[in-house]
Amino acid sequence: MLRLTSAVFVGILFHIYSTQAQSTFTNPIFDTRSADPAVLRHGNYYYIPLSTNGERQLTLYRSSKLSNFRNADTKVVYNAAEGESDIWASEMHEVDGQVYIYFSMRRDDHRVYAIQAEDPNNPMGNWGPVIPIMGNWDRGGIDGTILKHGNGQQYFSWVTDGALWIARLINATTVHESRLRLRKDTLDWECCQNEGAYFFYHDNVSYMVFSGGDTWDPNYALGMMSIDGDKDPMNPSHWWFGEEKPVFWRNDEEDVYGPGHSSFTTSPDGTEIWMVYHGASTPSYTERIARIDKITFDENGKPVFPRPSVIISPKLEIILVMKLDSSKVASQLLSPLKIFSGLKLKYFRNGSDNDTGRASTCKQFGQERG
Ligand SMILES: *[C@@H]1O[C@H](CO)[C@@H](O)[C@H](O)[C@H]1NC(C)=O
Ligand SMILES: *[C@@H]1O[C@H](CO)[C@@H](O)[C@H](O)[C@H]1NC(C)=O
Ligand SMILES: *[C@@H]1O[C@H](CO)[C@@H](O)[C@H](O)[C@H]1NC(C)=O
Ligand SMILES: *[C@@H]1O[C@H](CO)[C@@H](O)[C@H](O)[C@H]1NC(C)=O
Repeated sequence: MLRLTSAVFVGILFHIYSTQAQSTFTNPIFDTRSADPAVLRHGNYYYIPLSTNGERQLTLYRSSKLSNFRNADTKVVYNAAEGESDIWASEMHEVDGQVYIYFSMRRDDHRVYAIQAEDPNNPMGNWGPVIPIMGNWDRGGIDGTILKHGNGQQYFSWVTDGALWIARLINATTVHESRLRLRKDTLDWECCQNEGAYFFYHDNVSYMVFSGGDTWDPNYALGMMSIDGDKDPMNPSHWWFGEEKPVFWRNDEEDVYGPGHSSFTTSPDGTEIWMVYHGASTPSYTERIARIDKITFDENGKPVFPRPSVIISPKLEIILVMKLDSSKVASQLLSPLKIFSGLKLKYFRNGSDNDTGRASTCKQFGQERG
């Protein structure tokens, strides 16, 4: 069906090749350890605070592109004091007009703390002293995160003993004493703990995406639950607890193992939702490195998670979008590009199939991934 003269074909080939070179990028988005990556888009930048220096330091990374943090600006915003260690799962959030980083740290036990940027418009500037935020809660905690709910209230969620807890935030650094254990693993895939929750809001629904399993296991994966924006999150009956299956899990064909501990942000124009998460590129799982993938929504407004991918071409920087009627045409058109060894291409299909409008990643040209 598809007949191209060689002259035309070469023209297409070079067009694709030259555009491709600048327009796509490869997961992961860091070269180095970047476990529990929580992103905040603030002003003209994306920020990710990470635990560094043997988990004794918090370093804030700032990049104008979500797709590449390799040359990010950095600022050390916290140094563990004597008797402090194991800084984990830091997240930067804007609360009541100020900017905070919430993180877990061990003193006697692991607990959740916050630090505040002196100037919310300059997170690369100075940060204030460490503030314990859990009042008299004596059971320890990790993985603190913020829910800005549709009812106008703000909530704090964290992990104690492998379960997800939630309480109202009285102010940015004070968690209410009325606490609810919202979820403890019940499904096979999440055995035997839940952790790393993060919230995003879409069409009047708050979604909680959380990790299940063991962060050092290739089967670590993400699950999802949700609640209508006008319902009280402190009432467990208001929550939809989700499906039996994870929403995002290992993809051996793309060498992505144990994807988990996600966070969510938007494209600079605000129209797309992107997930930042960590994963390993070998099943033996030596290091957790940050990656991104795009979330879309089905006709009912429900989030659709892609499979973990290697090559992505987001609207963030775009771009080449090839609209092709079928994967067969894609295969015919793209297979000659194999001559550029190592070049991987992604294409969008607009056919009448299940994946309409969704991106597929090709490792072998013409082969589709669901
Ligand atoms: C939050 O509440 C605590 C306890 O009442 C108080 O010490 C702190 O100053 C408050 N912080 C803000 C930002 O209002
Ligand atoms: C969201 O809630 C507002 C206010 O109740 C309502 O006007 C709007 O239609 C809702 N949107 C969706 C997508 O349900
Ligand atoms: C796919 O895109 C082509 C070119 O833009 C268009 O002619 C065709 O009708 C589209 N197919 C569908 C199913 O939308
Ligand atoms: C959707 O995909 C399934 C499984 O691949 C296939 O059986 C079905 O025919 C597809 N539906 C459409 C509308 O193409």
